[in-house]
Amino acid sequence: MCGIVGYCGPKPAAPILIEGLKRLEYRGYDSAGICVGNHGELTIIKKKGKLHALDAAVPDGLQGYWGIGHTRWATHGEVNDLNAHPHSDQSGRIAIVHNGIIENYGALREKLQHEGYAFRTETDSEVIAHLLSSLYEGNLEQALKRTCAILKGTYGIVAMHQDEPDQLVGARNGSPLVLGIGENEMLLGSDVTALIAHTRQVVYIEDGEVVRVTPNNYRTTDLRDRRIDKKVDTISWELEEIEKGNYRCFMEKEIFEQPESIRRAFQGRIDHEHATAHLGGLNMSNRELLEIERIKLVAAGTSYHAGMVSSYLMENLARIPCNAELASELRYRNPIVERNSIYFAISQSGETADTLYALRELQRKGARVLGICNVVGSTIARESDGGVYIHSGPEIAVASTKAFTSQLTALYLYTLLIARMRDMSWEQGHRFIEALESIPALTQSILERHAEVEALARKYCQAQNFLFLGRGINYPVALEGALKLKEISYIHAEGYSAAEIKHGPIALINEQTPSLFIVPDDGLREKVISNMKEVKARKGPVIALAVDGDREVAAIADDVFSVPRAGQYIYPFAMMIPLQLFAYYCALELGRDVDQPRNLAKSVTVE
Ligand code: G6P
Repeated sequence: MCGIVGYCGPKPAAPILIEGLKRLEYRGYDSAGICVGNHGELTIIKKKGKLHALDAAVPDGLQGYWGIGHTRWATHGEVNDLNAHPHSDQSGRIAIVHNGIIENYGALREKLQHEGYAFRTETDSEVIAHLLSSLYEGNLEQALKRTCAILKGTYGIVAMHQDEPDQLVGARNGSPLVLGIGENEMLLGSDVTALIAHTRQVVYIEDGEVVRVTPNNYRTTDLRDRRIDKKVDTISWELEEIEKGNYRCFMEKEIFEQPESIRRAFQGRIDHEHATAHLGGLNMSNRELLEIERIKLVAAGTSYHAGMVSSYLMENLARIPCNAELASELRYRNPIVERNSIYFAISQSGETADTLYALRELQRKGARVLGICNVVGSTIARESDGGVYIHSGPEIAVASTKAFTSQLTALYLYTLLIARMRDMSWEQGHRFIEALESIPALTQSILERHAEVEALARKYCQAQNFLFLGRGINYPVALEGALKLKEISYIHAEGYSAAEIKHGPIALINEQTPSLFIVPDDGLREKVISNMKEVKARKGPVIALAVDGDREVAAIADDVFSVPRAGQYIYPFAMMIPLQLFAYYCALELGRDVDQPRNLAKSVTVE
């Protein structure tokens, strides 16, 4: 979604802003712009489309040492140059960038128009520039505070005024804003990737806070002008982690990083002696863990699928009722919070609005909500009552891959912990740990056979429709496989329980509609084979993800990719890798923009 970057310091601002925006490209956007201040004058340049259009429009040697930049993901008003940010007031003295949605912009716009302010765009954000202008009395920071007191909705705002050179002011309510402290320079960003090329020292701005920065100073206050002392955090990411290296795109890099990212998710968290997991961040005593009677996993998109897979594991191994629920649905359902239930908010970015608001609603009702996040210091990580970081390293591609397998790993560890407090014996725990520790090598061996999946993608990528089918714990894997394919290749794909096709989707089967079956050698194998036969009987092409040496499946399917034999609960990892690769190679074959698929955003900070 929209990205923000701001700079003030000794270097020319324009190249730093453009570079910062490039690092934010992964969030998804449709237009971009910058505003640079020089000798009491603001220059705004904004362009529809990708950043190279903006870059080309910026005059060489544009002077100015302070400025703001923005990548826009349209919500209010069509995608065009005018609606792109920054927006200015009518005098052109104030410029702002905004992430989020201003809910009362209609009423404010009407009021300001009445007072004579002329609006130029269709956006909700423009209202902020005019409101600032109407409340300005010679001090932008104070005007921003007065503005925030009137705005309703979500925002991360950064503003500048031509009469207050070398100064930026920012405010946050629901949309992330981070300050980067450099040497004689300060940066503001909607996430740390925009800042990390310049500094590792960051301060996370919280809701209700306002920050004012000059090249050598910053100050944080609340809306009533009370000083807030902030903790300075140090980012541990390396710059290479947010660069593609020798890979064609971030998604490819992230798929191939999984043996390592999965290892990082369980490293240091396994207690071999007691055959259990050690998860310090949960902030729960053993007694509290023992008292849990129900677990709910709340998330969106791919994270929701990770929750679904884990719910099967939790019920089977820990024998605790557990289910995954879409955060967007839960929030408005007036959820019933039972005593002794525990909630997990699962979110790679830790900023997904649906998940964050569900967390707040649950906490308001007294629930204990733990977080499973990747981005350290993200809002969900900070607001949850404890949790587990998955340590995947930055995930840049919009389509989530390595975060999925690391979320699973974290939830598998949690299941082990809970199960070992109940029915699971030391020996079973030990076997489970062995299986878990085999995943990096297993996924590595599958990745090495990527060319086989690439050949399958080449053969099938012209299909218009796909069915992805699995059962039991691999049913959500089928859902995730279908999601990956549609996200990045734009091929219509439906994920279903293989058992369910006879209740409807089988009507879609014909010679042009391939079905991809997940067929591990678990207790449901025979059932899935029957479902495959039903599809073959109707002349539907069948691709099977099976287990090495399964001749029966090979005899039925048109094409097979087989994975090594593994423990039944490990197959979601093994099967996910070829599904990610399949989506990736289909998208590549069709010439799609793999990392930034159309209309999608990485971190969806609006409802
Ligand atoms: C967006 C992304 C998905 C992601 C989902 C949840 O829709 O495009 O890839 O799975 O948000 O994101 P989260 O950061 O909460 O895991």
